[in-house]
Amino acid sequence: MVKTPIAEDIYWVGVVDWNLRDFHGYVTRRGTSYNAYLFLDDKIALVDTVKYMFADELLAHVREVIDPEKIDYIIVNHIEMDHSSSLPTVAKIAKNATIITNERCREAIIEHYGADFNIKTIKSGDTLKLGKRTLMFNEAPMLHWPDSMFTYVVEDKILMPNDAFGQHFASSKRFDDEVDEHTLMEEAATYYANILMPLAPLITRKIQEVVAAGLICCMIAPSHGIIWRKDPSKIIQAYVDWSSGKAAKNKVVIVYDTMWGSTDKMARAIADGAASEGVEVKVLKLRASDNTEAITEILEAKAVLVGSPTLNNQMFPTIASFMNHIAGLKPQGKIWSFFGSYGWGKGAVRDMAEAARKAGFEVHEPGLEVRFVPDQEDLKQCFELGRQIATEAKK
Ligand code: FEO
Repeated sequence: MVKTPIAEDIYWVGVVDWNLRDFHGYVTRRGTSYNAYLFLDDKIALVDTVKYMFADELLAHVREVIDPEKIDYIIVNHIEMDHSSSLPTVAKIAKNATIITNERCREAIIEHYGADFNIKTIKSGDTLKLGKRTLMFNEAPMLHWPDSMFTYVVEDKILMPNDAFGQHFASSKRFDDEVDEHTLMEEAATYYANILMPLAPLITRKIQEVVAAGLICCMIAPSHGIIWRKDPSKIIQAYVDWSSGKAAKNKVVIVYDTMWGSTDKMARAIADGAASEGVEVKVLKLRASDNTEAITEILEAKAVLVGSPTLNNQMFPTIASFMNHIAGLKPQGKIWSFFGSYGWGKGAVRDMAEAARKAGFEVHEPGLEVRFVPDQEDLKQCFELGRQIATEAKK
């Protein structure tokens, strides 16, 4: 993709990673992009860099606008390597550039790439005058890492929040009004659920802080995916709703796996029971669906049922992976319940409930276990469990 102006003398010079399908475990079915922005002014500034294998492409995009040796400032909003791993290459070419970042990120740059950089540190509220434009910095710890910060273009009201408000969405288009809105919001939700969900309380506070500070946005230009220019308030409102739990609806998600079909039968009967209460029901068998999809479905659900057969006296491996993953993401305010079949010995339901309680989840007791193959009476109990959970979800 070639450089694209996002405002007068501000260019998108990032790269599109069409073929990425695995972002440290997150299934990125639509690829991603690493967005970087170039400012032409009395001083030349580059906001963020890209993944190391795309360094030459980033530099080629910069060269379409200006000789990269002329870059005066490289703003590093976040050290994670999808953004920073081309920094050594870029800094070698932009040999007179000063790196602008916060103290945490400065330490991390040195720990990742050595001390051979000219770094100036800033704090929240500090500004950098480029000429006709001014950059203001706002530290945003944990959005996504402790070092994360936002860069705000004061005159144009453009927020460059790095990971926040992004999507893993490769496209030849750069702006929200150029892509399908449903697809964009779907990818934004997937990204929020799989990356930012554990940070919900911080997100609510940060959005309140940014609004209170008057940093109203005419445009939000994140470091992944599509730029929000048509209606930036749409993604801000979505973040408010996701992080506060307001987006939760009468929806029950059933995630399970099965060995010989018994837990599958249970899941289907539970789904019927939940649906009989009129709630939306989503059923995902792991190995047919991945954790990324299941986690996204859970984002706006009020209740989650997880089913696992017992294998070797414990959870089935896909479910153990899922429970570990979801415990780290800490979805708030859901009701959890567990079910599964067993053969010669139990273990899965006990272990799932224990993992959930340890993660601080609200667990509906008791779970439901069936020996070998569910009979009609067992399936009636499954139906009843689904109905009960749906009733609770509607409260
Ligand atoms: Fe896109 Fe936290 O890196």
